[in-house]
Amino acid sequence: MVTLRINAERLRADIEALASIGRSPAGGISRTSFGPADALAREWYLARCAEAGLTVDVDGLGNMVVRAPSDTGRPAPVCSGSHIDTVPNGGRLDGALGSLAALEALRRISETGIELAHPVRALVFSDEEGNYGHLLGSAGLRHGYGRKQLEELSGRDGDRLVDALVAAGYDLDEATRTRVEAGSIHAFVELHIEQGPIMEERGTEIGVVTSIVGLAGARVEFIGSADHAGTTPLTRRKDALLAASEFLQLLPGIAHDISEAAVVTCGMISVDPASQNVVPGVAHLTLDFRDPDWDRLQQLAAAFEQAARDVARRRGLHASWRPDSMVEPVPLHPEVRAAIAAAADGLGLSRMDIPSGAGHDSQNMAWLAPTAMIFVPSINGKSHCPEEDTSWHDIENGANALLATLLALATEEAPVTGPPLVAIAG
Ligand code: GLV
Ligand code: MN
Ligand code: MN
Repeated sequence: MVTLRINAERLRADIEALASIGRSPAGGISRTSFGPADALAREWYLARCAEAGLTVDVDGLGNMVVRAPSDTGRPAPVCSGSHIDTVPNGGRLDGALGSLAALEALRRISETGIELAHPVRALVFSDEEGNYGHLLGSAGLRHGYGRKQLEELSGRDGDRLVDALVAAGYDLDEATRTRVEAGSIHAFVELHIEQGPIMEERGTEIGVVTSIVGLAGARVEFIGSADHAGTTPLTRRKDALLAASEFLQLLPGIAHDISEAAVVTCGMISVDPASQNVVPGVAHLTLDFRDPDWDRLQQLAAAFEQAARDVARRRGLHASWRPDSMVEPVPLHPEVRAAIAAAADGLGLSRMDIPSGAGHDSQNMAWLAPTAMIFVPSINGKSHCPEEDTSWHDIENGANALLATLLALATEEAPVTGPPLVAIAG
């Protein structure tokens, strides 16, 4: 058995350095994929890789794959990684931890020159936070995007993905050539903060993630009529914002009737025209909804769309419903989970099985390679906000559990024989 530990000081310095890029005035971090702060973060990351003598391949959607120069990809590599983009005014660990711990693991492996049966690679995925599309970068690896599909994707500011890619120096033809063959990766492991309160409440150091929730969403519009706020009687209005508000009030009840595990969120709302003395003619909203069960996720989508249409009809408005692509819930791979559990036990760390209610690139990687995830506790369960944090002790434990897991997989001490999901699903 190979025993190796990460360099905790170097990992901490990296986490602090990356956290200084994209600081927002509101106290958190704003690094939207392909924006200026993301470009600086990528530059910083590439410099860390160069400093460590590692080679980086960047695909047409900005996914970065880091390897030792001697790594030819045969036999198939064991990969680990996460993302360095953030939500607006987000925290410093969501994605950053898994990206930097994977880099640290690869650095430790390279500098000690250990003999492995499979090379180890570190990955950084683009736009995990889905400004342009749910788990955009890993979806590009899993199924790729056609030019037309890329042209249809736009961000929260209304900007088009293709324009953002071109402005950031990407080639749009390359952006359609990101697909990776299922089976070309031996195994994939992602370290991440839990982003919820359970592990801290139980005092557990390592979470062995059992499954990842299914993701769906939509852009909804209520189209009524813009009118004078002073002269139009209340009975004669087609107020789009009032329709939107009635619709939003219905969502928790509809969700609960379909599934006790479902969650639904409207995180963005805007009206046209936006003026204090004009009845809103159009209301635009985004929905994010999730469920661990694929059939129920589809039922939720159908029920929410029907509710939007019913509210609009009752009020004499129109509703339009533009669905986002849905990402299936996935079970994580039993053999890779077993490797994580054994690594935690070997390090003397307490562990628990835990499902993920957050989305992760691992849910796309699971279709390409046997995949599992490691969680570490989040202080007060906070995430997607500036208060997001994890103790340095837990970070070190998680990174050591990741390194031990990668080594066990790469030396084949932990055998992975089962196929990725794509083969299980047939
Ligand atoms: C990703 O962080 C998500 O779950 O939205
Ligand atoms: Mn994340
Ligand atoms: Mn996130």
